[in-house]
Formats: sequence, structure tokens, C-alpha cells
Amino acid sequence: MAIEDSSEQLENLASGIRRCIACRLHESRRLAVPGEGPANAEIVLLGEGPGGKEDATGRPFVGPAGRYLDKLLQSQGISRNRLFITNCVKCRPPENRTPRRDELKTCTSTWLERQLELISPRTVVLLGQVAARQMLGDTATVSELHGTVQERDGRRYFVTYHPAAALRFDWIAATLREDFEVLGKLLAQPTDSP
Ligand code: URA
Repeated sequence: MAIEDSSEQLENLASGIRRCIACRLHESRRLAVPGEGPANAEIVLLGEGPGGKEDATGRPFVGPAGRYLDKLLQSQGISRNRLFITNCVKCRPPENRTPRRDELKTCTSTWLERQLELISPRTVVLLGQVAARQMLGDTATVSELHGTVQERDGRRYFVTYHPAAALRFDWIAATLREDFEVLGKLLAQPTDSP
């Protein structure tokens, strides 16, 4: 599909997300956060759900976790402009609680899957346990899978911890830095490498 067509379709999805009332999370949100980045991005970063700053601005990963993520990306020379950044749920859960199973199911089947189909990225980076379980199944654990590539249904997933967890635990910060080194090397490989 031509890039202009997929950009337009991605923007149509974003408009739908901003108006979505498919689950209870819309009741308490200020702004829905569809995600941002080029429609032909080779890499999608997938978080859990918007926090306070994201809810106020409508943009993903712009709060403290986002600033930490930016540093990790910079450490590997990965420009944020190259990536499509989004979340499993597009509306902030009240008090930043973990999104519930039905909210995740509704939002991913209505929006995330369609975004991923359109973008068709080479790699989806799963940030944290919620994103890992959602895309890899209920038995997936970040502590076992972090730093590895997992293939599911023709898609390539790279699993790592959520940057917000690195702000609370030094050992996660160290692990996340190591994982991003692996990710940097993986993304530097030519496109047709396995
Ligand atoms: N945490 C997330 O999972 N996503 C954001 O956009 C911000 C914080």
C-alpha cells in the first residue's frame, strides 16, 4: 500500500480511537492516546496504557517513563521519529491501575490489531508484562523472556521491561539497558536477515 494511503488509514483509526466509547475507560479519560509515528515504521513500541501526562496531552510516553525511554533509545542511536509508539489500551485507567482483561481485549481487537496490520512493522517491542501477555499469551513472563525475540503468527516481538519499572528498581534499569543493547544490534541488521 502506498505510504500516503496507509498514513490516511492510520489517521482514520486515530480519529476513531479519540471518539471511542467501547469500554469503561472512556468515562474517566481526558484525551485518548492513539499513538504516534510513521505509518511505514519498521519498529512499533508497545506499552501498557497512558498515564497522567499522556492523558493530558494525547501523546504516548511523554511523562517520566517516556523520558526514560527516550534516553534508552538515544543510547542506541535509535531516533524516536523512526518508531510508531502506542499502548495496549488507548485511554488512561483510573489511578493508573492495570488495564482489566476485558478492556485489553476490546481495545486491542478494535484498534491495536488494525494499527499493526496497517503498519506491518518488522519488529514489535513489548514494554512490560501487560504488553507481553497481551501479544504472546497468558503464560508469557518478562522475567523469563526479556532480551529475546519471540515469533508469533509471522510477527517478530522483542520482549523487555517497562521503563516505568526502571524508575523504581535499579536492577530493572540495568537489565533494560542491556536489553536495549541487544535491541540496538537487532535493529542494525539488514532488513532481510532472520
Ligand atoms: N506508560 C505506558 O505504558 N504508556 C505510556 O504511554 C506512558 C506510560
